[in-house]
Amino acid sequence: MIGRLNHVAIAVPDLVKASALYRETLGAKVSAPLPQPDHGVTVVFVDLPNTKIELLAPLGEASPIAKFLARNPDGGMHHLCYEVEDILAARDRLVADGARMLGDGNPKTGAHGKPVLFLHPKDFQGTLIEIEQA
Ligand code: CO
Repeated sequence: MIGRLNHVAIAVPDLVKASALYRETLGAKVSAPLPQPDHGVTVVFVDLPNTKIELLAPLGEASPIAKFLARNPDGGMHHLCYEVEDILAARDRLVADGARMLGDGNPKTGAHGKPVLFLHPKDFQGTLIEIEQA
């Protein structure tokens, strides 16, 4: 059911430092910071030949990554995003198999303008999974 790895998201305490690390030390193509108030994060996209890395920093009071950064002050891997052909069909199949969705179970528009859903990490080996309509 899942297709390409769309991105790996890394929560970071300092977006400027993290961007410089990826641009200068690792020599990657790094975007400007993109605030996403609907998601409570500012995102920097790192383009790799076969996938993307997203550097996420908290934005606003109720950022969904604030708790993660409180537990992991140096930052760390936050989630993986897999592409699916049909997000509603994927959701229905996952729910039928007992997987829990975060939120109300309805897709939201993600960082790339496509519908996304998040799956509970406790159901996926301790890893937060995002699925995105391909
Ligand atoms: Co993501």
